[in-house]
Amino acid sequence: MSRIALVTGGTRGLGQAVSLALQQAGHQVAAVYHSHDEEAHAFAAQSGIRVFQWDVADYAACRAGVARVSEELGAPDILVNNAGVTADAMLHKMTPEQWWLVIQTNLGSMFNMSQQVIEGMRQRGFGRIVNISSINGRKGQLGQCNYAAAKAGILGFTKALALEGARKNITVNAIAPGYCDTSMVAKVAPETLQAIIAGIPVGRLGTPAEIGRMVAFLVAEESGFITGATFDVNGGQYMA
Ligand SMILES: NC(=O)c1ccc[n+]([C@@H]2O[C@H](COP(=O)([O-])OP(=O)(O)OC[C@H]3O[C@@H](n4cnc5c(N)ncnc54)[C@H](OP(=O)(O)O)[C@@H]3O)[C@@H](O)[C@H]2O)c1
Repeated sequence: MSRIALVTGGTRGLGQAVSLALQQAGHQVAAVYHSHDEEAHAFAAQSGIRVFQWDVADYAACRAGVARVSEELGAPDILVNNAGVTADAMLHKMTPEQWWLVIQTNLGSMFNMSQQVIEGMRQRGFGRIVNISSINGRKGQLGQCNYAAAKAGILGFTKALALEGARKNITVNAIAPGYCDTSMVAKVAPETLQAIIAGIPVGRLGTPAEIGRMVAFLVAEESGFITGATFDVNGGQYMA
């Protein structure tokens, strides 16, 4: 069955692969981006996927943005909370701006976005929400107190909302990707990246398509008994 799917950060990196996987599964996809207009419009032209610009850290912008998607495509039955940023620093050097940017973008967005769709999902008796956490929310990482806190917070949010949606056929799950080949990981220093890859049992970075595949599985009609769970997709790097 074709559904309306909203993917935050759906124009680049992992989110782009998620948008394509959901399109491939027959859904009508709206992809949200923040500042990279050129990349977003090139992706829209190439894929035929509609792109929308707003800041997921901004509650009012999410409210207005989801209303626009609902008017133009229809109310979302699928939400993938994927948009995220890093602003790494050891805690003793981390600024309040670095802390709040990551908390508001990566964790605040869970509330800002999910609240816009949850009532409609409850009324229609169907919903699929997938939240993108991280291996580093599971195991911690040097220089990422902000990111690890936000990504671990997503796991609690996921379980609580899963309980709230369970009787309404709304599933809420999290994926904790390991290191995948995107621009976020390209920012890591080459020697650090080599050390990271050496620590991944399968011996390589993940591909964005491997995350897209997991999301498409979780949002399927047939996946209604899977809720409140966290799926590690990390090449065996961390087994929680
Ligand atoms: N890559 C990895 O190895 C890895 C591993 C674990 C978890 N993750 C998580 O997976 C998600 C995607 O990561 P990625 O590597 O694909 O990142 P990416 O390549 O940097 O892409 C990030 C996407 O999020 C959008 N975005 C960022 N801030 C936003 C905001 N405030 N409002 C709306 N959209 C915003 C970006 O829009 P613009 O294009 O306009 O900037 C872009 O589409 C993140 O949550 C990340 O933490 C990634």
